[in-house]
Amino acid sequence: MKVRFLDLSLNLKQQNNIIKPLKKIMKHGIFVMGPEVRQFEKKISKFCNRDYCVSVGSGTDALYLALKSLNLKKNDEVITSSLSWIATANAIHLNNLKPVFADIDDDLNISPQSIQRLITNKTKAILTVNYTGKISKLDQLEKICKKNNLFLLEDCAQSFGSKKKSQISGSNGILSTFSFNPMKVFGGLGEGGAILTNNINLNKKLQILRYNGTKNREFLLQPSLNCRLDTIQASFLLERFKNVKKIIRKRNQNAKLYNEYLKEIVVTPKIEKNETHSFYTYTILCKNRDKLRKYLSSKNIETQIQHPILMPLQKPYKKFKSDIFNAKKVVKKILCLPINEKLNKKEITYVAKSIKEFYER
Ligand SMILES: Cc1ncc(COP(=O)(O)O)c(C=O)c1O
Repeated sequence: MKVRFLDLSLNLKQQNNIIKPLKKIMKHGIFVMGPEVRQFEKKISKFCNRDYCVSVGSGTDALYLALKSLNLKKNDEVITSSLSWIATANAIHLNNLKPVFADIDDDLNISPQSIQRLITNKTKAILTVNYTGKISKLDQLEKICKKNNLFLLEDCAQSFGSKKKSQISGSNGILSTFSFNPMKVFGGLGEGGAILTNNINLNKKLQILRYNGTKNREFLLQPSLNCRLDTIQASFLLERFKNVKKIIRKRNQNAKLYNEYLKEIVVTPKIEKNETHSFYTYTILCKNRDKLRKYLSSKNIETQIQHPILMPLQKPYKKFKSDIFNAKKVVKKILCLPINEKLNKKEITYVAKSIKEFYER
């Protein structure tokens, strides 16, 4: 049996469902910022309990513009997790701000204790990442931000649809950012992203920043980039949105199955009460990780290691402050198992049994 990590192909019904709106777009001819883009923004802000949504070209654009909109000063410090995709750190650095890398807890999310060790009078914001789709410890982060007068930003690239108590991913902090790249639980046919906020002034500013910093196209207010979302992408995402809850439910079922099979064998992700986890990745912590990965590959099971190099250990970021004692230990053990919604019980069982076999050999 072959178990694929990701299968992005569309069936005939899905193909037909996206062709219809495409024809509509070809007819109205507004290929950038067409009416579908506004419809999409409204849907997302409502779903995430936010007043405003500004769609952009990618999750990287979203992070870059979100930080840019805050008007921080050169070399102000932004504390972020040491474990994320590199876009998180790049967005800080490209805004002439200093990334400061906090340690992670065993749930792979930023450690509030580590943040407290890193705060200085130069710290202006915390950029938390809901890693693997799990919501960060927002109650604690909000308290730290309030006490130290810091902005809280949420990188929700991996956590669309995740919830903890009444907090839904994308509804927290001053600004939240999303990625809709095809690998995401809620992904497009190409790149896409969004920034969410309840702040009317930031919303206005972000609309300007996403189009070269211009008002009405000709008046330059603040130099920026062109980060608009294509109408075609918005229309595809509107179609995908119809099934997003179902997709998350299926990923949760797969995760629960894995947890039952694997809880005695490896460290499995904890699913707390009152928590919905979108499971962008199902990441275990395991011994002999590389050998296990090789063994699974020999059994035709695809796995991934996301992300094997901690951001502060990437060459351009080595000079910045970091606190990565636990992250260094954990990153050697992480392995992402196939979790996508197309997998059935037989496939999940096959993966779990193969892992068991490996440790019992
Ligand atoms: C945590 C995180 N932040 C930011 C991004 C960047 O998003 P995009 O690929 O849409 O630019 C990603 C993408 O994988 C991500 O996982």
